[in-house]
Amino acid sequence: MKGRSLLLLTMTLAVSSASFAQTPPSTGQMKPVAYKVVDGNKVDSDTLQGWKTWRALACERCHGAKQEGMVGPSLIDAFKSLDKNEFHRTVFGGRVDKGMPDFSSSQMMQKNWENLYAYLKGRSDGKINPGDLQAIDAK
Ligand code: HEC
Repeated sequence: MKGRSLLLLTMTLAVSSASFAQTPPSTGQMKPVAYKVVDGNKVDSDTLQGWKTWRALACERCHGAKQEGMVGPSLIDAFKSLDKNEFHRTVFGGRVDKGMPDFSSSQMMQKNWENLYAYLKGRSDGKINPGDLQAIDAK
């Protein structure tokens, strides 16, 4: 009896470690890029924070209200290939000599950079509309 429950326990452990191994190793402690969008302009609360960060830090001054590019490059194009690490490196440190400011001292950026990444990914994927957004559950 005792031996059997030990066997069961071992099996349970084996199963749980197997499902753990399925989480993608490359993302490290970062959360996976995920945004939810309904009707093009309603998004999950994290992505909404990402959009608010975009607005608050006035990225559109240089990248355009629709991320289409102005002084700075089009982020619609950039996000076809820019991964999270590169985004992080660009925003925290900037490319000051080329005109991209360093946002590392912004608390809003520190808190929301992954949400901002998700928002911009959704814009680049053509899933999120340009302009104002609201929460999916907004009345
Ligand atoms: C004062 C103008 C300015 C502002 C404001 C600005 N950027 Fe930039 N950004 C630039 C320029 C110019 C570049 C191109 C730098 C280069 O040539 O490498 C750039 C590059 C980037 C890139 C890299 C694109 C690529 O193709 O690798 C990202 C991502 C980016 N900006 C995001 C942002 C975000 C997010 C914000 C707001 C938090 C922001 N930028 C605000 C001017 C700006």
